[in-house]
Amino acid sequence: MSEFEPKIIIFLCNWCSYAGADLAGVSRYQYPTNARTVRVMCSTRVSPQIVLELLKDGADGVMVTGCHPGDCHYINGNYYTERRMEMAHRLLKLTGLESQRLRLDWVSASEGEKYAGVVTDFVKELKGLGPNPVHKDAKLASRLKAAVDASKNFRLKVLSSKEINLISKGNAYGEKINQQSVEGIMEQATEDEFKASLILQLTNKKSQSVKELAKELGEPTDRTIEHVVSLRSRNLLALDHIDGATPKYKAIVTGGA
Ligand code: FES
Repeated sequence: MSEFEPKIIIFLCNWCSYAGADLAGVSRYQYPTNARTVRVMCSTRVSPQIVLELLKDGADGVMVTGCHPGDCHYINGNYYTERRMEMAHRLLKLTGLESQRLRLDWVSASEGEKYAGVVTDFVKELKGLGPNPVHKDAKLASRLKAAVDASKNFRLKVLSSKEINLISKGNAYGEKINQQSVEGIMEQATEDEFKASLILQLTNKKSQSVKELAKELGEPTDRTIEHVVSLRSRNLLALDHIDGATPKYKAIVTGGA
């Protein structure tokens, strides 16, 4: 049987890593040819939504590369990339898919050898993990879809774009928040939005009780009730019917099919 060859997407920043990849080729460094590359003007153009969509659709691995911190052509774009990929990693962990399938690395225009090395190392790691099981695992597919939906959430987008400023400049009142507290806030917000998206996924298929949802989410019912109350207040979830004495909820679907 032939060896598993992972399908990889690599995003290359036009100003650094694209030239680094080019140099790797010109210098004839040997590295695996598993990757499809996408050139972007700055690594920060790559959103968590894009990388999660690729993994949901079956990519075995996604790598985002950009200029080294301090060298971004747009001053600080790559600092935002770092925070966004951190959010994508948090969401990936919640889905159960190995978060090593997403990698962020810095490669300058003069680092052809480094580019060949990071690609070789990534392919080796993915071979160790095996194929992305999303197409054979309906539960994982549903969780990845929930992660994609959560990554589009307005609250998470705003929080991840404000993270750097909250630490360096402070909030609207000028109060600086330490990195640990900001990470705690991000962790909680990511988990809340992922679980809310998962509830909408599950109740979109059929109405569910809080107990059934809590079992799927793997959390105590009182936490699930909090998500249900929040979704109902946002007009995203409605009471469908009462089964005996048990309320069953259904997602409110808006727009076209
Ligand atoms: S221009 Fe290369 S990471 Fe921003």
